[in-house]
Amino acid sequence: MELTIIVGTQWGDEAKGKVTDLLAQDADVVARYNGGDNAGHTIAHQGRTFRLHLVPSGILYPGCQLVIGNGVVVNPEILLEEMDELAALGIDLSPQRLKLSDRAHLIMPYHRALEGAAEEARGDSRIGTTRRGIGPVYADKAARSGLRAGDMLEPDFASRVREAVAAQNRVLEHVYAESPLPPDEIAAQYAAYAHWLGPHVADTSLLIHRALQSGQKVLAEGAQGILLDLDHGTYPYVTSSSPIAGGAFTGLGIGPGGSPRVVGVAKAYTTRVGAGPFPTELTGLLGDQIRGTGAQQWDEYGTTTGRPRRCGWLDLVILRYAARINGLTELAIMKLDVLSSFDRIPVCVGYEVDGQRLEEFPSRTAELAGCCPLYEDLPGWERDIMAVKAWEDLPRAAGAYIAFIEERVGVRVGLISVGPEREQTVRRP
Ligand code: GDP
Ligand code: IMO
Ligand code: MG
Repeated sequence: MELTIIVGTQWGDEAKGKVTDLLAQDADVVARYNGGDNAGHTIAHQGRTFRLHLVPSGILYPGCQLVIGNGVVVNPEILLEEMDELAALGIDLSPQRLKLSDRAHLIMPYHRALEGAAEEARGDSRIGTTRRGIGPVYADKAARSGLRAGDMLEPDFASRVREAVAAQNRVLEHVYAESPLPPDEIAAQYAAYAHWLGPHVADTSLLIHRALQSGQKVLAEGAQGILLDLDHGTYPYVTSSSPIAGGAFTGLGIGPGGSPRVVGVAKAYTTRVGAGPFPTELTGLLGDQIRGTGAQQWDEYGTTTGRPRRCGWLDLVILRYAARINGLTELAIMKLDVLSSFDRIPVCVGYEVDGQRLEEFPSRTAELAGCCPLYEDLPGWERDIMAVKAWEDLPRAAGAYIAFIEERVGVRVGLISVGPEREQTVRRP
């Protein structure tokens, strides 16, 4: 089986978009399997920057089929906007090329409204979600009250939308004291979306199965990262889907056989957007130094919400955990150039909690909140590496940093990224 799964190994924004674009040059199909437009995946190529929320990151290879799998939740308005923007840039997003799973759930205006009201009601303990309606739509999916892309093809779609809006208005009005949403207007809007998206709707599980059976190469593009996973992340400060490698099987409707290649994408340091514990977080000047001033497009501000990302040193307890839960076969270490200005680089190799040393990532979030990172200092290289193309040309200390990660995580590093462009990539011999 020629399946490669790309997963985030931290709290998202590890540069999965860049890695997907890089590996897509050999792929026949690129498929998103989880999340929705809470994701923001960036591709930088020949001076142009694409920020994708729902369309898979295989757009730059015209022969590559693009699939939005059943595990994804789709806001039709956002998808259509994104398709229009990309089409205006000359990207083919015809129904033949871009397929949307008939089992993917639809984000409705009430999902966003309910999420906004719920976050406000949480006060200081809010999760800090992207407010894209992700939690409420997956809740509807689990409660078996959701609307799916395949429903758009049915004659009663508009009336089902109308009924669903009326039902959720009762919650908005009576639980949150919010204004009701207009059922007829939303039904008409969604009927229009159905007209435009209907030709893209397909049984994508069958499509991917056939592609794999015929020896084609399929790339499964994860959104978010392991620590935002609903089960294995820092609950409740997580998203509501399965970003881990296992999520690719349920989120695309394929079996786990055939030993897939699993590429774990990690930044050379750690970031997080939103609330929740973060052991290696740097809240002072060092954090600002990693984050950047916002002058560069890769500075650490959210692609989807523009919020400043919380920044800290690399945490190998997290990468070991990611290796275990995802069955990583290799790592991609991204944004190594960002560390070029430091003369010494601390790396977290374990935690201390209540005077005890901890090697494994704790399964209880409250325990993680009490963990102090234990660091080993590595020498910096203090030299710009953004033009480096070959492993031998990396400064010795940068190579040692990569070798240290490999040794302590026990997973081979396949590629190292030294800038946002596709060419700013070093293959590890
Ligand atoms: P994703 O959500 O995992 O796809 O990551 P994002 O696209 O949200 O964030 C990654 C950011 O880093 C984007 O702005 C990329 O263009 C940028 N980027 C990717 N690789 C590198 C790199 O090696 N160095 C630098 N400086 N920026 C990078
Ligand atoms: P990509 O795919 C970083 C975070 C939010 C919040 C939590 C829950 O670009 O890596 P949600 O809206 O999903 O209910 O928010 O998850 N979050 C992300 N952080 N990158 C992402 O996606 C994220 N998607 C969600 O900030 O803390
Ligand atoms: Mg992102």
